[in-house]
Amino acid sequence: MSTDSSKAAVPVIGEGMTLGVIGAGVMGRTLIRGMIASGIPQDRLWAGDKNGSACDEAGNLLKIPVEAEYQARVPSADVILLCVKPGDAPAVMAALRNAGLRRETLLISILAGVATDRLESLLGTENPVVRAMPNTPAIVGEGMTVVCRGRYASKADLDRAKRIFDGVGICLPIDEIHFNAITALSGSGPAYQYLIMEALADAGVRVGLPRHLALTLVAQTALGAAKMVLDTGRHPASLRDDVTTPAGCTIGGLLMLEDGRIRSVLARAVEEATKIAAHLGAAPSKISETAGAQRAGH
Ligand SMILES: NC(=O)c1ccc[n+]([C@@H]2O[C@H](COP(=O)([O-])OP(=O)(O)OC[C@H]3O[C@@H](n4cnc5c(N)ncnc54)[C@H](OP(=O)(O)O)[C@@H]3O)[C@@H](O)[C@H]2O)c1
Repeated sequence: MSTDSSKAAVPVIGEGMTLGVIGAGVMGRTLIRGMIASGIPQDRLWAGDKNGSACDEAGNLLKIPVEAEYQARVPSADVILLCVKPGDAPAVMAALRNAGLRRETLLISILAGVATDRLESLLGTENPVVRAMPNTPAIVGEGMTVVCRGRYASKADLDRAKRIFDGVGICLPIDEIHFNAITALSGSGPAYQYLIMEALADAGVRVGLPRHLALTLVAQTALGAAKMVLDTGRHPASLRDDVTTPAGCTIGGLLMLEDGRIRSVLARAVEEATKIAAHLGAAPSKISETAGAQRAGH
């Protein structure tokens, strides 16, 4: 997506080195597919997953080695991308250390709620660590990712991680203090958008449209409206005014949405998700307070 010409000049993965993805579930697979589509050679990619059937499925789908016994590959890894649930981080960090992780290997984590200092202390080494929060539209090259770096990661490490995620959408370096809010807004965000689109498509069916047509109308309208916001840089309220004829049908529909308190419902949803994100990566002493949230993942 990015037009940064330096991307072509410096390979994200060095010659003869590899990028390993630990956790070949929803996000691991999504990011591997995105990286392959963005031009990272398949023979430099591998994945590890403790679940044998996930290995078979992901290996067949992605045409890269996906193994439960991946430890022998760790020492040649230039970059390790961590895609397990937050609660599985301690086990994976121990496995990486025991497998001979090199001090220079860049560790990128997409684990919701797990801060860079927690990742560093779980790893117990001075490896560079970058924390990222991507989302699932990365699979179609329209992901939204933010990245920040830990205490041992350089600006070059951050740039390198950013280039990986730029290949699957847009990636911004952002201060770690905002990560829980971002997890709630753009990490979880596709789910909110799908719910809203489903509801609007149902509304179209209610007023007589065939379902397939209603869904196409809704999805393309969402895509178009998003592009208008991003491409024009105009405030959504100003763009909304362009659609809203005096005494017309749009203002009538908007009034109904306001009656339903759509703004406060959305604000409460993001507020609640932010609170949960803050507990996902809690250290063991805090787990009892978070009542199992750590296992719940994203
Ligand atoms: N889904 C999203 O939209 C999204 C967006 C942004 C960030 N995230 C973050 O992405 C991470 C992964 O989420 P996901 O939805 O992709 O989870 P997922 O589908 O459950 O995938 C995780 C995979 O890792 C495997 N695993 C667990 N422990 C392992 C270990 N010790 N070694 C190797 N593999 C192991 C799991 O196997 P088992 O199933 O056998 O446990 C599973 O196959 C989470 O931390 C989440 O916070 C998710």
